[in-house]
Amino acid sequence: MGTIPSLIDDTGKQSAGRRGSRNVNVVTEINGDIPIDSDIPDGAHILVISKDQTYLTHGIHKFPAKFFPELPRYLIQKYSQVGATVLDPMCGSGTTVLEAMLSRRFGIGIDIDPMARLLTKVKTTALDSGPLERTKLWVIERVRGMLEDHSHEPHVPGFPYRDCWFEPFILRELGIIRDAIDMAARARAIEGGNSEERENIHDFLKVVFSSIIREVSNADSHCTRTVVRKRLHKEVAEGMAASRFISALSRQTDAMTAFSRACQTGGLPAAKVCEGTATKTGLGDEAIDLAVTSPPYINAVDYPRTHQLEMYWLGLMKAGPLSDVKRNYIGTETVYKEEYADLRQSGFVALDPSLKKIHKVDPRRSYITYKFFMDMKEQFCETLRILKPGGHYCVAIGNNTIRGVNIRSQDILSEIAVSDDVGFTLEKRFFSGLIRHFIHIPRKERMSGEWILILKKE
Ligand SMILES: C[S@@+](CC[C@H](N)C(=O)[O-])C[C@H]1O[C@@H](n2cnc3c(N)ncnc32)[C@H](O)[C@@H]1O
Repeated sequence: MGTIPSLIDDTGKQSAGRRGSRNVNVVTEINGDIPIDSDIPDGAHILVISKDQTYLTHGIHKFPAKFFPELPRYLIQKYSQVGATVLDPMCGSGTTVLEAMLSRRFGIGIDIDPMARLLTKVKTTALDSGPLERTKLWVIERVRGMLEDHSHEPHVPGFPYRDCWFEPFILRELGIIRDAIDMAARARAIEGGNSEERENIHDFLKVVFSSIIREVSNADSHCTRTVVRKRLHKEVAEGMAASRFISALSRQTDAMTAFSRACQTGGLPAAKVCEGTATKTGLGDEAIDLAVTSPPYINAVDYPRTHQLEMYWLGLMKAGPLSDVKRNYIGTETVYKEEYADLRQSGFVALDPSLKKIHKVDPRRSYITYKFFMDMKEQFCETLRILKPGGHYCVAIGNNTIRGVNIRSQDILSEIAVSDDVGFTLEKRFFSGLIRHFIHIPRKERMSGEWILILKKE
């Protein structure tokens, strides 16, 4: 087998690597797919120039800290066989699950977040092009008709600060779109197919609707937090929600049709999206061949808050305080005073000195960091239980800085994964540089890429 520097670089570019790589001190630029017959050396640094961010249904909706498809594609093809079962226990928008399908594996996605589960389901569910096309035309006609009928009052859901988030004309347009989508499902505009197929089209329409909500709200379109920034002077014009929706629907119908054709002609296996959490997957012992995931970052993305407007419109937001929902997310910032009053120590040498340093300036952040790694320890135990012997767990994790303290997540997670409490073997790890869209992390705390840990169940 060759190694990455000799095999990959079709741009011919190699640049000096950063300190910290163990065996290889160059960054190898890879244009598009990472060749699976190559062997990325332990400690290597690669930079993938992604070509496939919106390939087929990948681009249907934004999601913070999405994988670029080439990475899970490589990991899936490298560490599993055709027909294998591949799990992403924190699947987010479903990049791994879709890539598993496209590589002829059975993809399973689990995520605590209802928005993530909906996106993953829609991205990986093929639709019959006839009913899809007819429904698209029906919905567009209804939206236009209701917009012109000024006496028509759509149903607009109530939610906190609604009238600050949206202009009145946008509320009306979004209400009309939502009504048209629901009417399409009820009025059997989605002809043909059984009730499950009709529900699948309904979910597809909801995701397309959701994809334009942030853009037409008063909130900053490019921030992971949902916030209105006065100094941005964001301009939202009348007719914008309807026109954005109609063009997104046309574009995504084409993308879905291409995906569905690929499923049909390639005989691709169906994927499954399960409720559950990464620490309680509900899967049986030794049920999966491979797991690939990227957990949330400590201190970075508040997922329920990121999608709060979309979730209000889709009816996905549970009643009650947002903090109750957020507590169970790995990487949560919702912690109680009594939990963080005292310094917590984990017993892991790569982590404890950092917890001490952070605690001196910010006990709350120290506890948040501690909790993240303890939750990940529980997550590792769960994945080890459900993996077949010989199976791999590939985890992408970025380093970050918390209150000025550099958290070397890849060292800490490696130590935890191979500890007696867990029991993985660390086969290797490599650094993958990346260019991220739609993620704004406070400047100093920004990450430049991720470490990929390749863990093995012996
Ligand atoms: C970095 S994102 C994953 C992005 C994904 N790789 C993609 O390509 O879209 C991390 C995900 O972990 C999920 N998550 C957080 N806590 C979780 C838990 N306890 N169980 C399952 N999923 C969880 C979040 O909801 C989020 O979707």
